[in-house]
Amino acid sequence: MQWRRGKELRELFLSYFEKNGHRVFPSFSLVPDDPTLLFTIAGMVPFKPYFLGMRKPGFKRATTAQKCVRTNDIDNVGRTARHHTLFEMLGNFSFGDYFKSGAAAFAWEFLTEKVGLDPSRLYPTIYREDEEAFEIWNRQIGVSAERIYRLGEADNFWSVGPVGPCGPCSELIYDQGPLFSCGRPDCGVGCECDRFLEVWNLVFMQYNRLEDGSLEPLPKQNIDTGMGLERLASVVQQVSGDFQTDLFKPLVDRSCEVCGIEYGKGEAGDMAARVISDHFRATAFMIADGVLPSNEGRGYVLRRILRRAIRFGKLSGVEKPFLMDLYPTLVEVMGDPYRELIDQRSLIEQVVEMEESRFGRTLEQGLRLLETEIGTILSSKGDSLPGDVAFELYDTFGFPFELTEEVCQEQGVSVNRDGFTDQMEKQRERARAGARASSRQIGGSVFDKIRDESGPTKFAGYVSDSLKTRILAIVSGEKKISRAVSGDETLLILSETPFYGDGGGQVGDRGTITGDSFKAEVTDTVKHAGDLIVHKVRIIEGDVSGGDTVLAEVDHERRMGIKSHHSSTHLLHEALTRVLGDHVTQAGSLVTDEFLRFDFTHMKALTGKEIEDAERIVNRQILENTPLEIIQTDLVSARKIGAKALFDEKYGETVRVVKVPGFSAELCGGTHVDATGDIGPFKIVREEGIGSGVRRITAFAGLSSLEHFRKLSDTVAALEERLSVPGDKLEKKVCEMQDENRKLAGELEKLRLRLALSRIDELVAAKIPAGPVYVVVGQYEGISSDSVRSVGDRIRQKISGVVVILAAINKEQAMVIAMADKKAVGHGVDCGRLVRTIGGELGGGGGGRPDMAQAGVRDIEKIGAALSRAPEIIFAMTGETH
Ligand code: SER
Repeated sequence: MQWRRGKELRELFLSYFEKNGHRVFPSFSLVPDDPTLLFTIAGMVPFKPYFLGMRKPGFKRATTAQKCVRTNDIDNVGRTARHHTLFEMLGNFSFGDYFKSGAAAFAWEFLTEKVGLDPSRLYPTIYREDEEAFEIWNRQIGVSAERIYRLGEADNFWSVGPVGPCGPCSELIYDQGPLFSCGRPDCGVGCECDRFLEVWNLVFMQYNRLEDGSLEPLPKQNIDTGMGLERLASVVQQVSGDFQTDLFKPLVDRSCEVCGIEYGKGEAGDMAARVISDHFRATAFMIADGVLPSNEGRGYVLRRILRRAIRFGKLSGVEKPFLMDLYPTLVEVMGDPYRELIDQRSLIEQVVEMEESRFGRTLEQGLRLLETEIGTILSSKGDSLPGDVAFELYDTFGFPFELTEEVCQEQGVSVNRDGFTDQMEKQRERARAGARASSRQIGGSVFDKIRDESGPTKFAGYVSDSLKTRILAIVSGEKKISRAVSGDETLLILSETPFYGDGGGQVGDRGTITGDSFKAEVTDTVKHAGDLIVHKVRIIEGDVSGGDTVLAEVDHERRMGIKSHHSSTHLLHEALTRVLGDHVTQAGSLVTDEFLRFDFTHMKALTGKEIEDAERIVNRQILENTPLEIIQTDLVSARKIGAKALFDEKYGETVRVVKVPGFSAELCGGTHVDATGDIGPFKIVREEGIGSGVRRITAFAGLSSLEHFRKLSDTVAALEERLSVPGDKLEKKVCEMQDENRKLAGELEKLRLRLALSRIDELVAAKIPAGPVYVVVGQYEGISSDSVRSVGDRIRQKISGVVVILAAINKEQAMVIAMADKKAVGHGVDCGRLVRTIGGELGGGGGGRPDMAQAGVRDIEKIGAALSRAPEIIFAMTGETH
């Protein structure tokens, strides 16, 4: 067997299958277009719709080296030689073309003839009762019967998840020889040790597992195979684990250098180096595919592994951010073919460094708290960390639950997961409610049925906004109905429609649908399963029946507004990339007829200049009046022309690229203007942060911008008139007025204070005896609390044994200030307690020392009443001491 690099093996695989009629695809994103999966967990994931027969591929055979992430065993990564979060899966796929025999022949030929594995060391396993597979290995390939192993469902039946495509499988096991054996007497095929390595899984994809667990035969028999590249490399390079292959070793070595670890000198250091290498690699790939750290879903997985890597760095004694020191090595090993690692460098850097600095700050504090808690548990002979401590660590110190668990487990303590989950559930429910509100697809089996019968709706809205068409179905209350009458609100499905269904950030169209006997207003248009267009209508005249011929007309004016905003979103996206850098990636968008919202990845608030620059670039493109080009092509060519692709973009055989020649290109299914000049004026009106590393721009285009400018100019005109200055002098005038106002307010305050001081004697005369002390109460409006305090001071000097309680009521805030002299304090007066009581009654709070305290208050109108209770409270206080 010839020694080969990992990269060569990848290329050998793809070219072998290409020669055998397979279409080669570059790796698809780690973020699947599939709500049932968090990550792409296998090479077959992007092809799922083809296996299920939901979409027809334009090819029958495909092959990929697919980046995959599996998250089921993260805590074991680093502890063993073969667990990873990210790995590459080499796969060949047949969609209703060759089946078991073809798959077995390809796999055998590739491994024995191309890679050069010794056939006498290869053992096929088959699913228990799969006689067909047995015959193929035995007769066709020539493997003797005793070397074919029959295994059960756990080993030899593969499914993508609880529901979805699945089937029996056959694995190829390679015997690495006795040197790799665990040495147990029963070590043989099926042993978990390193000797009998499972290298390739051939899945005979022939069923779809339904919700109820039953297996439904798929329309066609398919093949899905998967072989871990790292594992294959470890076999070919004859090393004892994936971390020793050329795909990983440079990263492990670099981790050791950066963290001061001597590999092989202790399990703790070795493990840290493996954790850091694996997690940094996965982290960089995830970020490059648009995943950002968060507390939910895939963002949580990213955060969890990033923070686990940071902790292992800390355990090795690293005090500073260090992960990006591994980046050049990663690019050396994986930058070809994974260019995204290079293209997204600045995003990767920003995200990693932000997490490192954030978590770096709280990690130590959190660990200290955790150590104390563990110490208490161990000394009291307990064995479980309470759930609320785990939650506090999560919430306040950013410890992913699993990290807390791992630290605890290292000391033999478990964590009360239920307690933690209880607390989490509350937070999650809020998040889920938010997500539900933003999902605009319509669900329901009635739509599945309609779609099965009639196929997806033909969308004609790219070229026209009105059209003669036919009603395919009327749906109400999740049932198909035959007729609806005036006043009904119902759902219509047409055979063809110019109405755009909400999707890709663009809102659904509105308009009218008219037939001979009725007229309906379309209030919104949504989609079912991505391509069945559903019109929400209110019948305003007559009655409508299924099958009616109708005229469907989109509200033209509104559609124009939507187009302007959508096309300008593309211009803005490109402009931001030019102004801020290549790390800018779309994180979401909302395109309506009135405004657009564009969310994108960037770590800092934009400066005024950056906003202005982006806006100018967009407006300049608009003035160029470039005609847009719409290109239908395949994903590979789209990537070649540099089209920006969104993470939730569908991988159809053909994709639609919206191009502004010479400026930008983007995968998009939305409706657009014919030429950029149609967009009209463009104006950014707001820029804000909406989450870690995500910014949001709100902007107007076309008539909305004009409306925005009109309102502004109305405001300016009104101000000009009121202030009697021309527009260009307004700012100066307002500043002068503010200065003047401030001066007047200061003078007024001084006068009020003087007045207050002149009335001190009246207040003193009105002092109220309360046991051994006197109480003086007063209220002031429009005097700062500082001034009120100086009034209090004067009073304190005038009487001995006094408590002064004064309220200062101002526009911005109201306060109660209490002061007592030494004698009064000696009699037990505590101003702190006093203001807490009074402040509390007034819906506020505060505190202070026994001789001086203050509280903010909210219920201003109750101040008088509350102050009048002061002597009584003070009397009670002094009563405590005599
Ligand atoms: N989908 C199968 C697996 O992941 C074969 O690729 O093992």
